[in-house]
Amino acid sequence: MGKVRRYAVVGGTSGMGFALARLLVERGDRVVIGGRDQARLAEAAARLGDRAEARVVDSGRESSREAFFDGLSDLAGLFTPGASYSTPMFRDGEAGAVKALFDAKFWGQYWTVHAALSALAPDAGVVLMAGTASIRPTGSSAYAACNAAIEGLGRALARELAPLRVNTLSPGMIDSELWRNRPDEIRDPMVALWRERTLTGRPGTVAEAAGAAAFLLDNGNITGSTIYLDGGWTFR
Ligand SMILES: NC(=O)c1ccc[n+]([C@@H]2O[C@H](COP(=O)([O-])OP(=O)(O)OC[C@H]3O[C@@H](n4cnc5c(N)ncnc54)[C@H](OP(=O)(O)O)[C@@H]3O)[C@@H](O)[C@H]2O)c1
Repeated sequence: MGKVRRYAVVGGTSGMGFALARLLVERGDRVVIGGRDQARLAEAAARLGDRAEARVVDSGRESSREAFFDGLSDLAGLFTPGASYSTPMFRDGEAGAVKALFDAKFWGQYWTVHAALSALAPDAGVVLMAGTASIRPTGSSAYAACNAAIEGLGRALARELAPLRVNTLSPGMIDSELWRNRPDEIRDPMVALWRERTLTGRPGTVAEAAGAAAFLLDNGNITGSTIYLDGGWTFR
């Protein structure tokens, strides 16, 4: 029997993070999932079964990041989709909203990888979360810039942290709780846009995102890359 591997997913109680956690436990690995909400964590851990451990974490807070990785070692991989979603518009000039976006999505992942360093195996894989607005924006310039920054961070960390491998998952619209929990008048036009303007004619699924994240974690010859999981959105 092969060695049981253990992974960490910061943002693992729903959406793409939970889908990856489920993929990992179903193939026999162990997973430590993190999220801010204790009740959501308990429910997610119960659904995943006894190969999963749940720990509270807010990726935006240093003490919380440190506590999440405390006592963990030899992790085979880390996935960091845990961030709130916001798309502040340039003309609104809301400095606080733009700062909050970067604090959550860019700096949250930057410092989460830093906090994880001593817990990761020397040849572990790290997968950052960006989004295709990086190269084909849909509106918010700050959101586009934030995702482009994350893709750049992934390439640079791959150099700086080798032999750790660092890659970035950059999805288009994925049919996760993030969209399902939004009002119909916001979600429906986006779904219509994705049906019309992708080559696949639909948003992606969380299972497809989990498969792509697992590929980036597993494949020992891929580092510094970005996968655009977008049904052809970015070049259509
Ligand atoms: N779905 C899409 O269409 C799409 C496309 C491109 C990029 N993305 C990006 O992918 C990421 C995840 O998306 P998703 O669709 O999987 O979302 P989701 O279903 O809303 O899941 C987000 C997960 O992250 C956790 N989380 C949120 N803020 C956190 C924080 N500060 N610290 C720790 N955990 C936190 C959430 O739990 P708690 O709220 O309980 O903490 C939850 O487990 C987002 O950053 C989003 O920008 C999504």
